[in-house]
Amino acid sequence: MSLIEIKTKDLLINPFSMIEDNWFLITSIKDGAVNTMTAASGALGHMFRKNVAYLNIRPERYTHDFVDSSNVLSLSFLPDTEENKRILRYLGTVSGRTENKLENIPLTLAFDDGIPYFQEAHTVFLCRCLFKQPYAPESFIDSAVKEYYYPKEDYHDMYICEIMKTLTDR
Ligand SMILES: Cc1cc2nc3c(=O)[nH]c(=O)nc-3n(C[C@H](O)[C@H](O)[C@H](O)COP(=O)(O)O)c2cc1C
Repeated sequence: MSLIEIKTKDLLINPFSMIEDNWFLITSIKDGAVNTMTAASGALGHMFRKNVAYLNIRPERYTHDFVDSSNVLSLSFLPDTEENKRILRYLGTVSGRTENKLENIPLTLAFDDGIPYFQEAHTVFLCRCLFKQPYAPESFIDSAVKEYYYPKEDYHDMYICEIMKTLTDR
């Protein structure tokens, strides 16, 4: 099924289940190469008078290098099927540093204004990064969150990305 562009505000989705239960792919480009990784945390909303996505990417992820190199990325939300969960698990456990993950998955890479995404997604956000900040240990108000998520002090970088374009199959 082909994707069409719609106004981001017209999208009817449940971001809570899409992010927590179904997961999504963060895909970016660096010097013409593409890498992707699975994510299950983040937020969609409004900030800096723009539609935005908040993302959490650990500095050691290969995808982090790609995002910082090009400052653009896509978020691809795949239909909730067993096969897609298998693909998302693979892309979320193996690093592009050790394998060319894109060669090992049955998804079709497409580009919009040079930003890579996956055609099989039901929803795609094409984004550019506006802001990045590491989670600072002293900023946690509830220390239980820090102790649970960051016992090794391997804090995520938080990115705020403008959603420049939204594609949907619906
Ligand atoms: C369900 C799930 C959710 C994940 N969410 C995140 C996330 O929000 N941020 C992050 O940095 N890594 C997350 N990961 C881990 C990365 O997807 C994983 O380390 C991946 O192999 C990184 O690939 P890369 O090194 O090619 O970028 C998640 C993994 C899974 C399976």
